Amino acid sequence: MCGIIGILGRGPVAEQLVDSLKRLEYRGYDSAGVATLEGNHLERRRAEGKLKNLEKRLRGNPLSGHTGIGHTRWATHGKPTESNAHPHATDSVAVVHNGIIENFRELRAELEQSGASFASETDTEVVAHLVDSYLKNGCSPQEAVKASLPRLRGAFALAFLFKGHDDLMIGARKGSPLAIGHGDGEMYLGSDAIALAPFTDTITYLEDGDWTALTRTIGVIYDSEGAVAHRETLKSGASSLLVDKANYRHFMAKEIHEQPEVVGQTLARYVDVAAERIALPFKLPFDFNEIQRISITACGTASYAGYVGKYWLEQLARVPVELDVASEFRYREAPLRKGDLAIFISQSGETADTLAALRYAKAQGVHTVSVVNVPTSTIARESETVLQTLAGPEIGVASTKAFTCQLMVLASLAVAAGKSRGELSDQDETRLAHSLVEIPRLMAAALATELQIEKLAREIAKSRDVLYLGRGTSFPLALEGALKLKEISYIHAEAYAAGELKHGPIALIDESMPVVVIAPYDRVFEKTVSNMQEVAARGGNLILLTDAEGAAEATVDSLVTIVLPDMAAIFAPMVYAIPVQLLAYHTAVVMGTDVDQPRNLAKSVTVE
Ligand code: F6R
Repeated sequence: MCGIIGILGRGPVAEQLVDSLKRLEYRGYDSAGVATLEGNHLERRRAEGKLKNLEKRLRGNPLSGHTGIGHTRWATHGKPTESNAHPHATDSVAVVHNGIIENFRELRAELEQSGASFASETDTEVVAHLVDSYLKNGCSPQEAVKASLPRLRGAFALAFLFKGHDDLMIGARKGSPLAIGHGDGEMYLGSDAIALAPFTDTITYLEDGDWTALTRTIGVIYDSEGAVAHRETLKSGASSLLVDKANYRHFMAKEIHEQPEVVGQTLARYVDVAAERIALPFKLPFDFNEIQRISITACGTASYAGYVGKYWLEQLARVPVELDVASEFRYREAPLRKGDLAIFISQSGETADTLAALRYAKAQGVHTVSVVNVPTSTIARESETVLQTLAGPEIGVASTKAFTCQLMVLASLAVAAGKSRGELSDQDETRLAHSLVEIPRLMAAALATELQIEKLAREIAKSRDVLYLGRGTSFPLALEGALKLKEISYIHAEAYAAGELKHGPIALIDESMPVVVIAPYDRVFEKTVSNMQEVAARGGNLILLTDAEGAAEATVDSLVTIVLPDMAAIFAPMVYAIPVQLLAYHTAVVMGTDVDQPRNLAKSVTVE
């Protein structure tokens, strides 16, 4: 998944392209590049690595064209080198691409046979050569793109520039998002409204299969059948200001610390704080009493939020819940009962696997609810009901505040479901809503563990492997802790349900193995303490996150305890997420990694 931008401007566009790419870097940062029309020919500047390398290259060798395209890459086909960086071009056409062209090998062989010479290992370059082959046969740019699109299998958002056509840019979308931005005598194409926000707030989203031919004044959209299509033009709420780090060293640190506030905002959207009652902002288009089974689908951190949600929905609403990672769900042909409910969780709202799972579920006739942070995203637009998380822009690649806001939405939904199914009384609802209202304050208190965790992180940073354990809802949080640690510190980490330890992973325990145990004082606390004794007996270094100060120390040796505020255990994952995130963050800082943009990752994964 990559970020793309195109500008038909009234002045030189190179600087604007780079500014916009900065806003798209969350989609990938393996390499970046721009192409502009310089007089009658296409010129490119590309660089491996972060955008600052491209900026340096442009300073040494500037571009002055008024028409240009830009790209920030998350490598799929071909290493993140300069020659694989977009735009890819022939003499006549330059293209930037987000997605994967699945049949690129066949196309490449065919094009090479007719004389095309390739300069990269990418799937994208075939698009440039394919369009070029039609241009060489006398097609206009529009005809060439129209003829090429049906030959491309896979997912794409594309933006094209053509030699000799200063007032033309063509865009196309299938599977990957693309939006037109309408300016004053200028026109833009971008992966999302965030990229376009410095230039315009007037946006038209292309629908799947659409392509568009833009000039500085007009944008004509065609659907997959080639008919002129009308798509709604909207005002985007995306801010033109680049979100800054305030006084924090990293976005991730800022986002961890923002959690009491943004979780509080999300709480206020779904809970009547004064009345201590669940108050969803609108009536759901289904009755929980008619739902026999719920399926929850998401990827990565969002799937762990879903896993916690499964425990809550099953416990509070007594409804069976199936949880899948989206990449499995979409291909396992899960039978869904018409009228049942499918929930999709996504920060970006653009994750390709989650989107495909949503489309599959819709085709099966189930009700669809998405829990998303970006309300204009494709997943939000295609879901029957959107329950927005109010986390605000999450810039750090490792998800933190989106996760806890997802948990707040799922907790509110679980209580609402329990209430409508008659599993919870009015008193239960008030008790649970009261516990939810307490969460922002408890999260703020949990932030006070930071100094202790910072010290601990210096020890964790010396380890090669770390194990995370938990029972109940602490198990998915353990999974999240292990993911967070490995993705930003590059230390190998694994998580197990604490009761599973003795069925295999206990073989890993020795003096060099830190074991992080998440154990709020709940009905399985004592059982987790027994598991800790098993670890201690084998020399493992235990780190316990709990609100039961002193309860484990009596029986377990060599234990470091991080004491969290006393709270209703059911919603503990929202509060315990904070030390878990801080531990990963501070370990990564000690390791000296690129915390906000860890290697090989991207914030929004729009390829499968
Ligand atoms: C990990 C992380 C990823 C995302 C996953 C889904 O810190 O951020 O695992 O959670 O890629 O992304 P969204 O939520 O945008 O669908």
